[in-house]
Amino acid sequence: MPMVKYYLIHWGASLSDTEKQMALNWAKEQRAAFYPNLLADAKWNNETIRPIQNSVAVDVRKVILGNLLFHDVRLSSDNTVSCSSCHGLNTGGVDNKQYSEGVGGQFGGVNAPSVYNAHYNFVQFWDGRAATLADQAAGPPLNPVEMASTSFDEICEKLNADADFSKAFKEVYPDGFNQANITDAIQEFERTLLTPNSRFDKYLKGDETAMTADELAGYDLFKKYNCATCHVGENMGGQSYELLGIKHDYFADRGTELTIEDNGRFKETKNERDRHRFKVPGLRNVALTAPYFHDGTQATLDETVKAMAKYEIGVDLNDQEVKQLVAFLHTLTGEYQGKLLVNDNDVH
Ligand code: HEC
Ligand code: HEC
Repeated sequence: MPMVKYYLIHWGASLSDTEKQMALNWAKEQRAAFYPNLLADAKWNNETIRPIQNSVAVDVRKVILGNLLFHDVRLSSDNTVSCSSCHGLNTGGVDNKQYSEGVGGQFGGVNAPSVYNAHYNFVQFWDGRAATLADQAAGPPLNPVEMASTSFDEICEKLNADADFSKAFKEVYPDGFNQANITDAIQEFERTLLTPNSRFDKYLKGDETAMTADELAGYDLFKKYNCATCHVGENMGGQSYELLGIKHDYFADRGTELTIEDNGRFKETKNERDRHRFKVPGLRNVALTAPYFHDGTQATLDETVKAMAKYEIGVDLNDQEVKQLVAFLHTLTGEYQGKLLVNDNDVH
């Protein structure tokens, strides 16, 4: 089966049923050969969504250091902001604000995605400007509206003054604190920020009792309306850039002035085709991470789901469908360190 036929399906081209079946079989074989889904029950191992792993291989010594750095305010210019200020592990890995607040009460112009399961994203940030979690971690410390340090040298000087931390760090990284080592440790820590064992994952792994009838109906709608073509993989997103407003002009309807952040991937490539294309956000723990969208304009999951259906699928969902889709999204809350995630901000 030539690749081109497989892609044609995605562009909605007209293929005969036989051709479609051939293409689907081909995709299934490719997936089984090159991207096996070992965690899911045999019945579900060809789903586009996969269970989250319990863990991935890490160097525990680096994880410990990365955990400390993730919570260390010395990465910020005035020692007030740490990564966890905006990515609270007790608040779904986000700050539950429309825009994040950095040093000196300054606000950025884009909504903070979760650090949970970011390990699975093919690139980081809404516009994909960081290739790895380590590249990503180099950004906030020097971002003037986030942590506002002037250089990694400034940060390292502060950390070097801490004899105990310095010593512990050198045991793992003999050349001590520098940008590469700091971001490497943070990346290693972030690899442990996985949230397995959601009720949905239990279902995919074969526990038929893990979800209610309404939640299952929601999952069926999620597939029927092709939500699962963009929200794929372990993190249910983070695998491609997609246009916001395929079926209707989202930005015209929003009615507020366009911002630089609204450009999405275009910011990086300057390719007109990439304007308003965003890395698809992961939906794991989405019940805890309001508000939604890159512009933080969607306060509730009800609104968000309706907007997705309207702008991405071209469908007006009825109340029952919204209810079931949202019920399904609530089953995506997973466990961190063996405990079901909750949100201390009490956002639902
Ligand atoms: C002031 C709030 C703030 C601080 C501090 C902060 N972040 Fe973020 N983080 C954000 C925002 C906002 C974004 C989205 C920015 C964008 O996409 O352009 C983001 C994006 C990310 C992403 C990408 C997730 C994805 O799905 O693309 C990761 C990972 C991340 N931050 C980790 C960190 C780490 C590690 C630190 C500390 C070194 C940190 N953040 C500090 C607000 C913050
Ligand atoms: C064509 C790809 C595509 C399809 C199909 C799609 N989405 Fe999305 N989804 C996106 C993109 C891109 C965003 C981010 C939009 C933004 O931030 O401005 C998003 C955002 C979301 C969010 C908000 C996540 C967050 O953290 O901000 C939810 C919830 C969501 N989608 C659910 C759905 C549901 C339910 C469906 C099916 C009705 C669906 N999506 C269909 C691409 C898609």
